[in-house]
Amino acid sequence: MLRSKSRVLALIPAAVLALAAAGCGSSDSSGGTGGATPGGVTLVQPGKLVTCTGLPYEPFQFEKDGKVIGFDVDLVDLVAKKLNVTQEIKDTPFDGIQSGVDLDSGKCDLAAAGMTINDTRKQNFDFSDPYFEATQALVGKKGAGFTGLDKLKGKKLGVQNGTTGAQYAEKNAQDVELVTFEDLGLLLNGVETGAVDAAINDNGVLYDWVKKNTDYEVGTEFDTGEQYGIGAKKGNTALLKIVNETIAEVKASGEYDKIYEKWFGKKPESK
Ligand code: ARG
Repeated sequence: MLRSKSRVLALIPAAVLALAAAGCGSSDSSGGTGGATPGGVTLVQPGKLVTCTGLPYEPFQFEKDGKVIGFDVDLVDLVAKKLNVTQEIKDTPFDGIQSGVDLDSGKCDLAAAGMTINDTRKQNFDFSDPYFEATQALVGKKGAGFTGLDKLKGKKLGVQNGTTGAQYAEKNAQDVELVTFEDLGLLLNGVETGAVDAAINDNGVLYDWVKKNTDYEVGTEFDTGEQYGIGAKKGNTALLKIVNETIAEVKASGEYDKIYEKWFGKKPESK
């Protein structure tokens, strides 16, 4: 902690340093991370808010015309705006995000990846307040009748590595062959090529996909009652405070509904 602080401060001109030092003597109790960014937040790369995510995860984060866009991107852009910096997105395997390794090693400041808040993850990093509700769902060919895991007996079910969907399938699917894919794109490709009969993932991304891939349908949803949160390195309370303020403000101002409508084509039923 201390070491990274001195490294960051070394890049700041002396006059600013003096100011920062004066600031440290005040009542600021944001964890002693005093830096040049509002709220006493220290960033892994000065001047940028680096967000780790696992692409593609449309409509939360995906690439279009060489740019990463999506619901989570818009939300974190507002966090960056509050910090007077710009967001930089790092695409990295979801498993390293959800295990906390990427945050811990200082690869990024935040993790925003349509990521479900759960107890195991909470032991490895800190989560923001919830910002989105989700549940697991099953996708397969239209008319295949995959209305439950019992319909997949003797068949192949694709799961995404490190996800809550993979966990759900491991726990609940019986006599089903699970096939693990590294990301959502590969998983859905597996459904299209017939490498697997069906796939499990979050309802938001699967409904989005079947809108464009009309030979496929969501056969059922499982009531897993998940909520997405944004991750930060354990103890980075100053940054998490800004994230939570942003979430609360966008919900109160109606901006949340706008972003939701932009990516889901309708108003949210709940948030
Ligand atoms: N919500 C699920 C989870 O937390 C899946 C998230 C996958 N996200 C991604 N960007 N690949 O496990």
